[in-house]
Amino acid sequence: MALLSVLTPVLAAILCLVVGFLFMKSRETSSTSKTKVVASKVESRPWVDQDLQDDTEITAREGEDADWVDSHEEEDLAHVPYSPSRYPEETMLKRAQDFYTLLNQRRSVRFISPEQVPREVIDNVIRTAGTAPSGAHTEPWTFVVVSDPEMKHQIRMIVEEEEEMNYRQRMGDKWVHDLAKLRTNWIKEYLDVAPYLILIFKQTYGILPNSKKKTHYYNEISVSISCGILLAALQNVGLVTVTTTPLNCGPKLRLLLKRPINEKLLMLLPVGYPASDATVPDLKRKHLDDIIVHI
Ligand SMILES: Cc1cc2nc3c(=O)[nH]c(=O)nc-3n(C[C@H](O)[C@H](O)[C@H](O)COP(=O)(O)O)c2cc1C
Repeated sequence: MALLSVLTPVLAAILCLVVGFLFMKSRETSSTSKTKVVASKVESRPWVDQDLQDDTEITAREGEDADWVDSHEEEDLAHVPYSPSRYPEETMLKRAQDFYTLLNQRRSVRFISPEQVPREVIDNVIRTAGTAPSGAHTEPWTFVVVSDPEMKHQIRMIVEEEEEMNYRQRMGDKWVHDLAKLRTNWIKEYLDVAPYLILIFKQTYGILPNSKKKTHYYNEISVSISCGILLAALQNVGLVTVTTTPLNCGPKLRLLLKRPINEKLLMLLPVGYPASDATVPDLKRKHLDDIIVHI
């Protein structure tokens, strides 16, 4: 009995240690499994560029209200008559067919000629891209046109370094396998060769001359529409490009090109004439019946 009374505090201490140990262990396991869930979410969507969030919700941040422009501060807008061309039905059909034929010839071309392209043509296709609709007419795009060979080379260095990591580590077997038929890899010769690189930045918010911030609603969708129009405009003048979205290169390219913090790289288009020996994968497009639903 005496022995038991001596041992009781010791047993109690051992029991506390065991319970404490089990408690710590269970916390460890739950935090590891949480990390695993997050990691598996990230792993399952490796094409999501972590730098490319839309950021429209940025206005919701507390304590920053004074930094943002009040919509009442913007002026009233006049509404003016609008009457664009109207065509007879036959003409409409012909124009629809011709435009389809033109755009159906568009291909992503990864072999671009170094031949020079008139600068005015580039200015005009970008002017055309700038006609895109945008959320609340915020026009949240910046087109950076690079023709300087040294700058193009620096861009190539950044893209190739990141793309090698993308292909070797980040993209995973499935993605790399899906791309194999296109014969793409991290070597991007066209970044040196093409006479122009157009880097399209989305402005996640606007910065007004008085330094106040302005919400850019749906900025990513708006800029993507603008890029689509740019691709059509390039096709219209007989130039080629390949749509590229260099994963995780945005921050470095933004700094290299001295773009402000509110801009994020959305797309990089090398632009020029096709190389005389250019080839493209023999891809087929879906038939109309497979992409249309009439209700
Ligand atoms: C959002 C987007 C990202 C793309 N990224 C790349 C890219 O990083 N590298 C590349 O070589 N092609 C890229 N492409 C081009 C596609 O591979 C190409 O559009 C597709 O294979 C269909 O070929 P087509 O453009 O000749 O019709 C991209 C296309 C889109 C729309």
